[in-house]
Amino acid sequence: MVTDLADMVKPSVILDGKQTSQVLLADLKQEIQVLPEQHRPKLVVVIVGEDPASQVYVKRKAKVAQELGMHSEVRWLDATTPQVDLEREILDLNKDVSVHGILVQLPLPKHMNTLDILSVISPEKDVDGFHPVNQGRLLSGDLPPALPCTPAGVMHMLHAYQIPIAGQHAVVVGRSNIVGKPVGLLLLQENATVTVCHSRTQDLAAVCRQADILVAAVGIPRLIGADHVKEGAAVIDVGINRVDGKLVGDVDFEAVKEKVGYITPVPGGVGPMTIALLMRNTLSLYKAAGQ
Ligand code: GUN
Repeated sequence: MVTDLADMVKPSVILDGKQTSQVLLADLKQEIQVLPEQHRPKLVVVIVGEDPASQVYVKRKAKVAQELGMHSEVRWLDATTPQVDLEREILDLNKDVSVHGILVQLPLPKHMNTLDILSVISPEKDVDGFHPVNQGRLLSGDLPPALPCTPAGVMHMLHAYQIPIAGQHAVVVGRSNIVGKPVGLLLLQENATVTVCHSRTQDLAAVCRQADILVAAVGIPRLIGADHVKEGAAVIDVGINRVDGKLVGDVDFEAVKEKVGYITPVPGGVGPMTIALLMRNTLSLYKAAGQ
């Protein structure tokens, strides 16, 4: 019997964020270790309040920075801190020449205006790429040294696995300022045809089925099912949702994994990439500062 190759089922590739991030982190560590100890990149993370998830993320960011040989510091501010006090803290960090990257952990308490706060961070130290000037640079295609970490992590993953982007139809589900909008712009920058979907999109499944690259970033557990994916597509799951004490993504992994060409798991997909790109951003800002 002759086997028709086209009839053979090709197993989908699991995009391993742990391994991909470790390769990147190892490269960064090599670069950092040769720098003089007293003059290395420094990341300062500011956290306001006691959001448990944010506390976990912040500690992990500081730990990874230290493992790479960078300097890092976490500033913990009380949930009731007045906005003006946080602004003063940021202005001090802007002036401190030993600091290269400033990250204000989001979400902020309700009494603060997030855009006001992000606008106070010096664009040259904006390790998240969230300052309006850096958002504008992303929009215009004049990319700043530090791009939003999760979107940059998604792009790094696509590059690492040599998934074609130019000319492909990329569908992004979610339009947040942190992920959906910037990842859409980065895909466009690399010549994908980009569609951004959201809660008012009609027949979401039909739109998603057109995607060669599908990025799910809405925060709705297992929203994306087998009906939403085209055979052979690359599916990137940015969702981190806690359901019955378990972390699940925006994609129903079990339902779609056989159908697609590539898929990120949750956990172990985009999550580790975000931290690795934060480290790369800190090093990039240090270099751009000419130090
Ligand atoms: N909270 C969730 N994701 C992020 C991020 O990428 N940056 C900051 N500053 N806060 C976040």
